[in-house]
Amino acid sequence: MEAVRNVLRKQVSFRNRVKEIPSTTYGTFGLYGYPAKFIPQIIAYALNEYAGSGMSVFDPFAGYGTTGVVSNVYGHDYELWDLNPLLETFHKVATMEQPKQDIDSLLAGMKGYDHEFIPDWSNLSYWFPEEFLPFLFRVWGFYHSLADDEAKLLLTIPLIKTTRIFSYDDIQRQKLSKSPKSKKRVGRLLNGNWQDIFYKKVEEEVYAIIKGVEEHHALSPKPVESAVRGGVDILTMDLAQDRDILITSPPYLQAQEYIRHAKMDLFWLGYSESLIRELSKNEIPYRYVEPCEIKSDIYHEMRGQIEEAHILKIFDSYFFGVLGALTRLQEKISSYLLLFVGPATLRGRPVPIDDIFLEHFTALGWVHEITLVDTIVARRMFFYNNNPATGLKDKRMRTESLVVLRR
Ligand SMILES: C[S@@+](CC[C@H](N)C(=O)[O-])C[C@H]1O[C@@H](n2cnc3c(N)ncnc32)[C@H](O)[C@@H]1O
Repeated sequence: MEAVRNVLRKQVSFRNRVKEIPSTTYGTFGLYGYPAKFIPQIIAYALNEYAGSGMSVFDPFAGYGTTGVVSNVYGHDYELWDLNPLLETFHKVATMEQPKQDIDSLLAGMKGYDHEFIPDWSNLSYWFPEEFLPFLFRVWGFYHSLADDEAKLLLTIPLIKTTRIFSYDDIQRQKLSKSPKSKKRVGRLLNGNWQDIFYKKVEEEVYAIIKGVEEHHALSPKPVESAVRGGVDILTMDLAQDRDILITSPPYLQAQEYIRHAKMDLFWLGYSESLIRELSKNEIPYRYVEPCEIKSDIYHEMRGQIEEAHILKIFDSYFFGVLGALTRLQEKISSYLLLFVGPATLRGRPVPIDDIFLEHFTALGWVHEITLVDTIVARRMFFYNNNPATGLKDKRMRTESLVVLRR
């Protein structure tokens, strides 16, 4: 373990090291607050430092798809995967052409529409007051009636964000849950002119998309090849072609529930309850994963200290899932593995995931170039006062590391 503790580490501030991207929410990077989203400067920094011209980029846990958008701007072909089908939707919006729509007539069309779309969701009436539902069915009916791709792309994020505000979900909590605060919010809406509020919010959000897309084009995205696959399980997918750089931020060790967070959006976008249930079952670390060899002393030392069966289950699913998949995929990566992780805790004790990954991949023949350590400033994370797996108080993650490994 001593060897790993002495590895080359450097403190950096990614956000201050990349001048080309003016802020973390510039362009289309900030259009949707995907939980634990990369700031674009991490990818930009990595591509500036390590990507030779013509190199392709692969992110198998792509989330919002930031890796793809930055690769697009820097002129690299890319491939993105995520279990969450929203990846494909978000990425189409984030890389869309400058819109030519007449926004006033688009919004007027939405207001006058009277065919309903009803999501396939048995819990619908638990999450929305009955007063809102017929209205939401018609608004979403309009969305699903649109044949025009551009109009749909402009409306997707505005509608999912606004619909959430009109639901009982506590938006601050990062996972679908009701709270006294969210009930109060809905109560206030019900007492006001809520239809106007809804339309106004959608309009504001549509203009935010237009501004973001305009800024994205000011970054001069290049004509590159891309493959974007949402709704896929990393454990059963294979790369069709070799890639040069794998850069990714795997799920967190504890308390991540991406599909549970996304499901309200997925239902309104037309995904079925049975599909969403299937997706949830594949989420790492809340599933069974076949054991695989983990080549790390730190990992085995930590595992040996876990007594509780339920914690062991999550620990195993996490490392067997993430490292099992990445061990198979790295065979198709020619140059760099860049793994972005936050140090997690288990029963109050830190788990140095970055060092475990480092030990494992160096044992597989990769060379550790450096670990870059950044301080978390503001990132949308899942934070709980108590870790639901252990019932114990969580220490907040304060720093994150980018482990850089080369062939
Ligand atoms: C830390 S997030 C990635 C965030 C991303 N870097 C961004 O900028 O938005 C981890 C992702 O892993 C995905 N994930 C979890 N289990 C998965 C699985 N079995 N296969 C593929 N993706 C999975 C989650 O849906 C989540 O989007």
